[in-house]
Amino acid sequence: MFSSATPPPRQPSTPTLLGVDIGGTGMKGGLVRLGNRGKSGSLRGDRFRLPTPQPATPDTVARTLAQIVSELDHRPKAPAQDCPVGVCFPSIVKNGACLSANNIDHSWVGTNIQERFEEALGRPVTVVNDADSAGLAEARYGAGQGVSGLVLVITLGTGIGGAMVHEGVLVPNFEVGSLELDGVMAEARASAKAREREDLSWPEYAVRLQRFFSHVERIFSPDLFIVGGGISKRPDDYLPLLDLNTPIVPAQLKNNAGIVGAALAAQSEAGLPD
Ligand code: BGC
Repeated sequence: MFSSATPPPRQPSTPTLLGVDIGGTGMKGGLVRLGNRGKSGSLRGDRFRLPTPQPATPDTVARTLAQIVSELDHRPKAPAQDCPVGVCFPSIVKNGACLSANNIDHSWVGTNIQERFEEALGRPVTVVNDADSAGLAEARYGAGQGVSGLVLVITLGTGIGGAMVHEGVLVPNFEVGSLELDGVMAEARASAKAREREDLSWPEYAVRLQRFFSHVERIFSPDLFIVGGGISKRPDDYLPLLDLNTPIVPAQLKNNAGIVGAALAAQSEAGLPD
């Protein structure tokens, strides 16, 4: 018990950074609680979403990103305005540059995303692939916490994204949706968008997922599959239909995994303490 004369010792506050997830239809940002406390890995306050501008070129996306960061910066719990911002992006990202455009505007290819966003925001930016971001978040705060060995996070959305995490360490740009399967790119047949486009029932879609996951299992022998993307909200519709040797579970951070992982990447790149 503390008497009124002795205030309880104050805990230093949980480190907080901005994370932004750039998707094909929406751009979402939030203030992410990092560290290792009870609420770590969650957002402080609501996420802020703006529609992805069309066409989604480097200029239009950089302007929308600046609007999102400005909204988050004005919140009472926002970190200092020179803190790095983490951004996740739906392409191969190497040394800050975009190297592919399966589902985004082709003008991105060859663009240095990091430099473009740093110019727009006037502060340091870390850019990572969107599935890598989800992988970092799930490994640290979600379904992959404490799992040893090889964890593969697969995101089913407009495309298929993949993150390979071995003993907690991310191997970046695991472009598993670009694997060739039945003569086409796997994501052309087994993404969530392919299910909608072809109006497949869940059992019909599960046949394609089975083919995809068995193939990946055969090549990589993972210890755990985590399924993310919008579809992770409805795991009962398709997970029980799959027959794999590897345990397969839905992602836990759901829609916020990209935002949280982007903030984690920024923290790690800047060498900021936990
Ligand atoms: C891209 C990946 C991305 C995935 C999910 C794929 O089309 O090639 O880089 O992670 O979509 O957005």
